[in-house]
Amino acid sequence: MIGKGLQAEFIRKLQRPPSEPPRPPSLASSTVRAMFGPDVAVATESPHRGGDALFPDEQSYIAGACERRRVEFGTARFCARRALAELGVAPCALVPDPDRSPRWPENIRGTIAHSRHACAAALTKAPHILGIGLDLEEDTPLEPDLEAIICTTTERSWLDPFGPPERGLLGKVIFCAKEAFYKCQYPISRKFLDFSDVTLSIDLAQGTFRIADLSRAGAPWDRLRDVTGQFRRQNGLVIATAMLASQALRRKDRLGHGALPAKPTG
Ligand SMILES: CC(C)(COP(=O)(O)OP(=O)(O)OC[C@H]1O[C@@H](n2cnc3c(N)ncnc32)[C@H](O)[C@@H]1OP(=O)(O)O)[C@@H](O)C(=O)NCCC(=O)NCCS
Repeated sequence: MIGKGLQAEFIRKLQRPPSEPPRPPSLASSTVRAMFGPDVAVATESPHRGGDALFPDEQSYIAGACERRRVEFGTARFCARRALAELGVAPCALVPDPDRSPRWPENIRGTIAHSRHACAAALTKAPHILGIGLDLEEDTPLEPDLEAIICTTTERSWLDPFGPPERGLLGKVIFCAKEAFYKCQYPISRKFLDFSDVTLSIDLAQGTFRIADLSRAGAPWDRLRDVTGQFRRQNGLVIATAMLASQALRRKDRLGHGALPAKPTG
């Protein structure tokens, strides 16, 4: 619970940046909104805010970090509080759990991503959305020696027809999509997954992906196989979203985030 005075101060900061004029974000919130659909609130911002918008607990959490990390952490909190406001939730401290995963107010599910040029938070309170994940990466080729670590044998076979630089750029898409999947699944499973544990099926024409293979069985993994995702490449960024929606919604909404290609297509 925060005092009314502190709450008013945060609302003022949310509405008007205290020191710097807003810069146009390199990632429009409308892009991410369109990927997640209407039940998810999204805010994006260029990383330029330091600790000035942070609650005391957040300031203590991030005090020992380098300047860039503090700016990204602060900007991400600013985005998250804007998205929370859209959901009708009052500003509150957003200190991560000890395992670094985000901790949200009751009944909120959400995800944070930062890159050098953009920070974003996406949150939902829609009961049929069980989990969401977002990742942002620079739209540059994946280092060739990382491909074998990030991509499974099946994914590498899918990449085989592509020469440089497309192969590396698509490798980066796979990396970004796996990070989005990881952020979506972790609050549900509370388990670490390696890149080799997951094989994605990518539909380039639709900009979608699904889980083709997951090296785990039983609960909650059987449900997590139903995570679906989208990706976009724009303004120098790869953007990937992942979502787990309840079965009832998935049956009704096959054309939205739940659209699944039958197999990888080029
Ligand atoms: C956790 C991880 C996905 C974060 O990705 P990243 O590219 O390093 O960092 P990003 O800027 O995109 O995201 C950072 C945000 O991720 C979120 N995050 C961190 N750990 C998380 C977790 N376990 N689950 C969900 N979200 C997490 C936090 O909100 C963090 O923001 P904050 O530090 O401001 O609170 C990554 O560091 C990691 O550990 N990856 C290894 C596991 C993996 O990706 N496996 C893929 C196979 S599925």
